Amino acid sequence: MSTVDKLLRNVISKDETNGNKVTIVGVGQVGMACAFSILTQGVSNDIALIDMMEDKLKGEMMDLQHGSTFLRNAKIRASKDYSVTAGSKLCIVTAGVRQREGESRLDLVQRNTDVMKFIIPKLVKYSPNTILLIVSNPVDLLTYVAWKLSGLPKNRVIGSGTNLDSSRFRFLMSEKLGIAPTSCHGFIIGEHGDSSVPVWSGVNIAGVRLRDVNPKIATEIDDEGWAAVHEQVVQSAYEVIKLKGYTSWAIGLSIASLAHAILTNASSVHAVSTLIKGEHGIEHEVFLSLPCVLGAAGVTDIVRQPLTDVELKALNKSAELMANVQEELKL
Ligand code: NAD
Ligand code: LAC
Repeated sequence: MSTVDKLLRNVISKDETNGNKVTIVGVGQVGMACAFSILTQGVSNDIALIDMMEDKLKGEMMDLQHGSTFLRNAKIRASKDYSVTAGSKLCIVTAGVRQREGESRLDLVQRNTDVMKFIIPKLVKYSPNTILLIVSNPVDLLTYVAWKLSGLPKNRVIGSGTNLDSSRFRFLMSEKLGIAPTSCHGFIIGEHGDSSVPVWSGVNIAGVRLRDVNPKIATEIDDEGWAAVHEQVVQSAYEVIKLKGYTSWAIGLSIASLAHAILTNASSVHAVSTLIKGEHGIEHEVFLSLPCVLGAAGVTDIVRQPLTDVELKALNKSAELMANVQEELKL
């Protein structure tokens, strides 16, 4: 009799799933920041990691497993073989190349489209009911690509979009106002990155709109430099990449908040990339960020945000840009 058999009388075989399984594809800087945030915040205690670099994959898995005593009964698996992802409620895709200093997110598009062609069908094969959350850049275009490749309904294919940009915006606003970021309310919509659109018309503290307090805010005649807050948001990633080579912690935390909304069926509102054809006069089949209600079914609603003419024009310009790049894509 083995030690286990001497110790335990088996009653019934164990259920190997926890019901909140999350797959993360890509164990680079972003993938591991997502895994760390999700595990340490208790968003999921069942994660599967996938990558092509076997040593790195095994090393990251072991390193996390060695912290299990400090987590909540976490099950951490990793493999090159996608069968390890079976039954995931949520699949987060962070695989692919990232920008080198000076490169834009759009410069990565065809290289990372080819990565999606490899990954997405395998994820859907093993988890046909999953929600896909795309993080790899350029995130809006790759979310469109993932939607096309997966055959999943639009509510179940989501891009992390401007959730991160909105967080950067609220942080920078908080520095200017001396109020906590969580109490500074505002959304960045549109493209994650260079053509993102700050919705200044809705920025508020406790329901008090800054535009009512100061009608000039972030306009051409603003003498307090508020427009620079958005310019800093756009420059943020370039600056961090120049300083440390990549961005990771903020996107990891931002993904954990989206995963929490989905896994707890929270119906909370987040700026994420979704199919926006038909919204704000946009006719193109493109994914861009708008405030969305997120729950167990993915995107259940899009918030009908009133936008000014300037904001509408900027959003339509982003949509045009996305549609033009999509035409050139080899899917
Ligand atoms: P990284 O180079 O550190 O990691 C990428 C990982 O992907 C590597 O481990 C690599 O082996 C893996 N990979 C590549 N092809 C693969 C494939 N076919 N299957 C499985 N794994 C594969 O890069 P990173 O810093 O983690 O960035 C990852 C992506 O996330 C980049 O595209 C980056 O631009 C993007 N990103 C997006 C946001 C956002 O807000 N959406 C924020 C930060 C970074
Ligand atoms: C970001 C990445 C590079 O941190 O898209 O914004």
